[in-house]
Amino acid sequence: MKILVTGGAGYIGSVTVERLLERGAQLVVLDDLVRGHRAALDKNVPFYQGRVGDRALIARIAREHDIESCIHFAALAYVGESVADPAKYFENNVEEGVAFIGSLVKAGIRRIVFSSTCATYGEPEQMPISENCPQWPKNPYGWSKFTMERLLESYGHSYGLKFVGLRYFNASGATQVRGEYHVPESHLVPNVLSAAAGEMSEVAVFGKDYPTPDGTCIRDYVHVADLADAHILALDYLRKGGKSDFINLGTGHGYSVLEVIEAARKVTGAPIPTKMEPPRPGDPSRLVANAEKAHKILGWKPAFDLAAILRSQWEWRKKHPQGYLDQKELSPSS
Ligand SMILES: NC(=O)c1ccc[n+]([C@@H]2O[C@H](COP(=O)([O-])OP(=O)(O)OC[C@H]3O[C@@H](n4cnc5c(N)ncnc54)[C@H](O)[C@@H]3O)[C@@H](O)[C@H]2O)c1
Repeated sequence: MKILVTGGAGYIGSVTVERLLERGAQLVVLDDLVRGHRAALDKNVPFYQGRVGDRALIARIAREHDIESCIHFAALAYVGESVADPAKYFENNVEEGVAFIGSLVKAGIRRIVFSSTCATYGEPEQMPISENCPQWPKNPYGWSKFTMERLLESYGHSYGLKFVGLRYFNASGATQVRGEYHVPESHLVPNVLSAAAGEMSEVAVFGKDYPTPDGTCIRDYVHVADLADAHILALDYLRKGGKSDFINLGTGHGYSVLEVIEAARKVTGAPIPTKMEPPRPGDPSRLVANAEKAHKILGWKPAFDLAAILRSQWEWRKKHPQGYLDQKELSPSS
């Protein structure tokens, strides 16, 4: 029995594949490689390059493999890009998502762990954010994930789909062999470390007048390996008959942009010059998780703090200055 991992060549997906393989899981990966990298995947993992909205392809994968569950990472995930081009996000994340979940149900695959996001909360009044806070996204990316959450609920109710929607806060950090590498990159941690490595002359700080102590946005940074492990726990939970649910994945600690940059200066010893830019549309001021539910229901507790996150990504990028561009397919020992 295999797990279908969509978006498994992407950042969080490839680390989850790594952790699943370490536990001896059988997998199939589907990714269109629009944002992911073939080199981020073990060459022995069965891989299909294609789109989740391709119903014929999903039917074929289901025919060719004995799929028992799915982890659905595949999506576009840049807030700014979604504001500039919402159609791209609704088409890729929702239109293809509808086709994809429909194909799973048709193929009899009824267990799914879904990548949702803290962006579905928008600018919540209550902090830290618990799962029952009202959701009102501030950007099309958040709405695309919000819509998929409602689809999962409806399909759960009517078609017997069992799901866990994991609402991640800010994924960051690296394992020994896999780290964050996107082209273009919009996330703070890899960009700060690019500035530390001298590949960017300065790091942009978007907005300095947010209602936070230092005026910059506050986020909850979670190590990618902690996130990956939560997916494995969520699958186990569903296999044991756990009820469908939405669960935050965060640490409960928030750091401002300036605090992250300061922590990165300590880790790297580099000066990391900054440049103030206007705020980005769609960016909430503060997103920090109440992560108690993940602990209570899944037994999940993040192991890494911000310094460990920065150290791990720094080590990875020193080994791979060109990210995945200089790598062939990874083997488990590489
Ligand atoms: N990175 C974060 O901080 C964060 C936070 C909250 C939620 N998420 C969610 O987690 C998931 C993974 O995020 P990530 O940071 O690893 O992103 P990523 O871009 O590195 O990975 C996504 C992968 O999905 C693939 N993909 C996208 N659309 C596809 C399609 N239609 N068909 C097939 N493959 C497709 C991309 O090529 C890429 O490899 C996404 O759903 C994202 O919305 C990420």
